[in-house]
Amino acid sequence: MYNSKIIGLGKYLPENVVTNDDLSKMMDTNDEWIQERTGIKERRWIPEDSNDTSAVMGAKAAKIAIERSGLTKDDIDFIVFATLSPDYYFPGCGVQIQDLLGLQNVGALDVRNQCSGFIYAISVADQFIKTGMYKNVLVIGAEYHSNGLDKTTRGRGVTVIFGDGAGACVLSREEDTTKGILSTHLHSEGKYADKLIVASPSIKHWVPEIIESNEEDISYYPYMDGTFVFKHAVVRFSEVIMEGLMKNNLTKEDIDMLIPHQANLRIAQFIQKKFKLRDDQIFNNIMKYGNTTAASVIIALTEAWEEGKIKSGQHVVLAAFGSGFTWGSVIIKW
Ligand code: UT7
Repeated sequence: MYNSKIIGLGKYLPENVVTNDDLSKMMDTNDEWIQERTGIKERRWIPEDSNDTSAVMGAKAAKIAIERSGLTKDDIDFIVFATLSPDYYFPGCGVQIQDLLGLQNVGALDVRNQCSGFIYAISVADQFIKTGMYKNVLVIGAEYHSNGLDKTTRGRGVTVIFGDGAGACVLSREEDTTKGILSTHLHSEGKYADKLIVASPSIKHWVPEIIESNEEDISYYPYMDGTFVFKHAVVRFSEVIMEGLMKNNLTKEDIDMLIPHQANLRIAQFIQKKFKLRDDQIFNNIMKYGNTTAASVIIALTEAWEEGKIKSGQHVVLAAFGSGFTWGSVIIKW
């Protein structure tokens, strides 16, 4: 048995900054409401004249992660790509990464677990490495939300939250099983699928049905029961972090850095208070990027590492909750 460890991190955010004031010109919202309820000041949205997509942004982040890992693209044995906004209905973005980066004809797997997508993706990669099947796995989280949001007042409860971006890491074999990813913990509760959903287009509600129907009946924009999701998020985040700590005989005092999914600053602050973490034991960047769903944890992890906030030997905890519902955590000895 082996462990896996992160040996390279990369992120890519589109340059185009959309402020809360910019949004208030599109819909009935305002900077005060958005900052007070979510903590978000601005987000990045891919501009109309850009060629960026989830796959393209994912490839840009992955290129940096591979360069920083000291490996070459030919060393990559497998790709895991997490997104809820793939370029195509099918095939998934993973195969596009193989092509865009000119990787060997390695396997490519797409993970569809929304805000928990990166947690699920890195867990899958970890299992492949632990069993010895692969040595170096490229794990990517990327989202292109802005092209699929309702930018009228009707969509304001959701649209102001989401941003575009991508992050990636190279996960590699670690012979010392006291280091690297110590454990991962994954959960779901499908009875709440309709609380945060894009219901169509889907095989259930295909395009002709959408065209014929009243747009109000079948929404092709994300729907979220925000308050309901919020209440479940704070409970599940806490549970799954505790589960990970207990599995490794750790306590909350052992957390050196918590990287929570960037859903809402108030959720992160609730967790911080509950686990009695100092400001330097939790990393948030939702203020700058909004909620980038499957990309958020890996963008935040990359940024924390770039800022020198993660050091060798520290316990780093990743955690996420979102649509599905799905939730999970990863306990790392860096
Ligand atoms: O990442 C995946 C998981 N997602 C989450 O964890 C998100 C969880 N939920 C949330 O973060 C929060 O519920 C939201 C930020 C989405 C909403 O905050 P809230 O405090 O729950 O507000 P609300 O939805 O209860 O809306 C309160 C009021 C409503 O007006 P009335 O009915 O009180 O008159 C909304 O119509 O705020 C109104 N509102 C807005 N006003 C200005 C909703 N969106 C906006 C907006 N600007 N963008």
